[in-house]
Amino acid sequence: MADLFSSLSFRCGISAPNRVALAPLTNTQSHDDGTLGDDELRWLVRRARGGWGLISTCAAHVSPEAKGFVGQLGLFSDAHDAGLRQLASALVAEKTVPIVQLYHGGARSPFALTGARPVSAVAGEGQGDDVARAMTEREILACIDQFASAAERAQRAGFVGAEVHGAHGYLLCQFLSRNNTRADGWGGSLEGRARIVREVIRAVRSRCGTGFLLGVRLSPEDFGYAAGMDLDESVALARWFAEDGADFVHLSLWDYNKPSIKRPSEDIIALFRAALDPAVRLLVAGRIGTVADANAVLARGADMVSIGRAAILEPDWPTRARDANWSPEAGPLSRDELIERDVSARFVEYLRRFKTIVRAE
Ligand SMILES: Cc1cc2nc3c(=O)[nH]c(=O)nc-3n(C[C@H](O)[C@H](O)[C@H](O)COP(=O)(O)O)c2cc1C
Repeated sequence: MADLFSSLSFRCGISAPNRVALAPLTNTQSHDDGTLGDDELRWLVRRARGGWGLISTCAAHVSPEAKGFVGQLGLFSDAHDAGLRQLASALVAEKTVPIVQLYHGGARSPFALTGARPVSAVAGEGQGDDVARAMTEREILACIDQFASAAERAQRAGFVGAEVHGAHGYLLCQFLSRNNTRADGWGGSLEGRARIVREVIRAVRSRCGTGFLLGVRLSPEDFGYAAGMDLDESVALARWFAEDGADFVHLSLWDYNKPSIKRPSEDIIALFRAALDPAVRLLVAGRIGTVADANAVLARGADMVSIGRAAILEPDWPTRARDANWSPEAGPLSRDELIERDVSARFVEYLRRFKTIVRAE
């Protein structure tokens, strides 16, 4: 089993100084037009100083219609470039590996945020501005191009890589799902459902070159919004995405100890590890709080651990984890304690839905 503090090389040639990644975390701290907010910069740079081997931005929208959250970072306009450059250079200066997460909300992009009716693989049920309509083939092709352009924009700004958000029931996951019954070659069979993500990966690889760090995030099973995902299909998808040019696959598990729904006697992490070429790195997220959790995830076959909620509570998690006597903050913390950790008042309000993070006052 790899040491948590040993470096990790990816097949594109990039190396992370250790195996602790900051998970992509939506933080609502940028401006309405998608330009970087000072609070989002401060929040990420504070974490970079804490020794994270790889830092992902939040899910960043690749077009105005792709937006899913208030205060979300954008990756589609020249107006975004100055902030992206500032963020990338500040992260590089702290010796971490900065990547963006490429996002389209699909059916989950509210009309109130985008002013457009949401789109998805298939039409939603019911009527109204928030009910998704099925994308036309022309829109699918344009969307693939938007993902690739967003990755190129990030690369020009100084980011060394990108992760394609294929998880959590957003647009790409809506296409991967068994609920995608399209009959035009972009749905139906697993090949058809996988096609948009495969094309996105190939397009990003072709536009950003072989040295760009490229990954894909997956929800391996039907859970929460990731409806219609099947474990065995997800393993097959991960192999295809690696063939198409992904350097890593990032499993979003929510709880690494929760047994698989379909194969409760098998370990999900080990299944993916066995299916993928060892050169394709496996990142795993899901309730990793302590060093023991992180080591357990590495022992099951992950190459890198990805930490979300514990990173909000402990900006210096990777640095402090080197001390064998340290135990991480379990939370919840008060508003002021979070603000001390460079979580802005606005982000604290967003986080109130997570009772283990913000203490009710
Ligand atoms: C506040 C918050 C924001 C999140 N935003 C994103 C996001 O933008 N993109 C994404 O893929 N996952 C997002 N997630 C999921 C996390 O990346 C992570 O997979 C999940 O929180 C489980 O890891 P943890 O137990 O270490 O928090 C978010 C989670 C939280 C708590």
